[in-house]
Amino acid sequence: MEIRPSRRISDLPGYPFAQIDQMVSDLQAAGHHPIDFGVGDPTEPTPEIIRRAVQKGVDTRAQSGYPSYVGSPEYRQAIADFMDRRFSVKLNVATEICATIGSKEAVFQFPNCLIDPGDIVLCPSPGYPPYNRGTLFAGGVPYYYPVTQENDFLPDLEAIPEDVLQRARIIWVNYPNSPTGKVAPDEFWPRLLKFAQKYNLVVASDEAYSEVYFSAEPPRSALEFGRDGVIVFQSLSKRSYMTGHRVGWACGDERVISLFKKLKTNVDSGTATFIQDGAIVALKDEEHVAKMRQLYQRKREILVDALLEIGCELADCTGTLYLWPKAPKGTTGLEFAQKLLDPSIAVVCTPGVALGEKLADGSNPGEYHVRFALVPDLEQVIQASKRMKAAFGVI
Ligand SMILES: Cc1ncc(COP(=O)(O)O)c(C=O)c1O
Repeated sequence: MEIRPSRRISDLPGYPFAQIDQMVSDLQAAGHHPIDFGVGDPTEPTPEIIRRAVQKGVDTRAQSGYPSYVGSPEYRQAIADFMDRRFSVKLNVATEICATIGSKEAVFQFPNCLIDPGDIVLCPSPGYPPYNRGTLFAGGVPYYYPVTQENDFLPDLEAIPEDVLQRARIIWVNYPNSPTGKVAPDEFWPRLLKFAQKYNLVVASDEAYSEVYFSAEPPRSALEFGRDGVIVFQSLSKRSYMTGHRVGWACGDERVISLFKKLKTNVDSGTATFIQDGAIVALKDEEHVAKMRQLYQRKREILVDALLEIGCELADCTGTLYLWPKAPKGTTGLEFAQKLLDPSIAVVCTPGVALGEKLADGSNPGEYHVRFALVPDLEQVIQASKRMKAAFGVI
């Protein structure tokens, strides 16, 4: 029998991180020991208090059946308490919060709530792939705005053409930003929200990295500046080393949340309740979060020094677990990433082109960059820095 893939699937390029996994396995198969800064999957264990809560939940909920579609009342209350404590945002537990199975699925599915065929979704380039993949699967059309150093890594809203704005329904923003590390300044948010009101755009704010920052002041949430037409996607993956648990939430304007709940009721059966039990404990504890920031900070300092020494350019960005250097002069990001894969260096990073989408003029804002995810342990970061410096003759 002939298996004919759908056009949507066959038109998709491979998920960029799957290709990186392959490059790492190839090096390993050849007997090398690559140090992998490719995928943003923290390698630290989930804190013990969270694991204990999950284990306990498995037993106390031995006959729990399917989880709630929208999240247990206790989990939604813990989210409301966190949003109030952290951002002074007061949410209605019944109407303004919905649990998610991590934010990837939520981000991917969300356009289905608002997009009819041909509607436009404004997506950052470079940016997290599910913004555009989800748009395409919903029958929408992504329009990419550049997130570049020239624009201070913020959308140049006025540069988006009027005819695009007339057809646009959603703008995705992501601060602290992956991959650039940019934390949006306070003045950005009211400007964005005013612009969105003018064009009747729903602001979809992906705040998965709100707790990963290295500045004195913590990053703000879009919801601190307004709720009308705003939905925030949050995740415990990076804050609490819970990538494997798959748990997050969406919150904001109750009209948008109610569409999202309706969608999710039809798509999945909710986040396992014992995982939500762990998430409640995670949200109440800030100690492990402070430790997480300290550890990333040490790794950052070491890697930033090494990258600058070998001739990379780095903007002063203070969020996320990523570094987004420009490759040494005269080299593209891809060439630089390939050089680092030489078995004598065996350092894996993501070429920026894999995270950037082409703009209307055909350029890719990621072309001269690479992304380093600060996930290898401290020893490995030191080792990788030494290998790179030796290869570039600066030791
Ligand atoms: C910008 C951004 N948003 C969301 C996520 C998804 O996180 P999760 O699905 O684990 O909650 C990631 C993961 O790397 C990310 O980089």
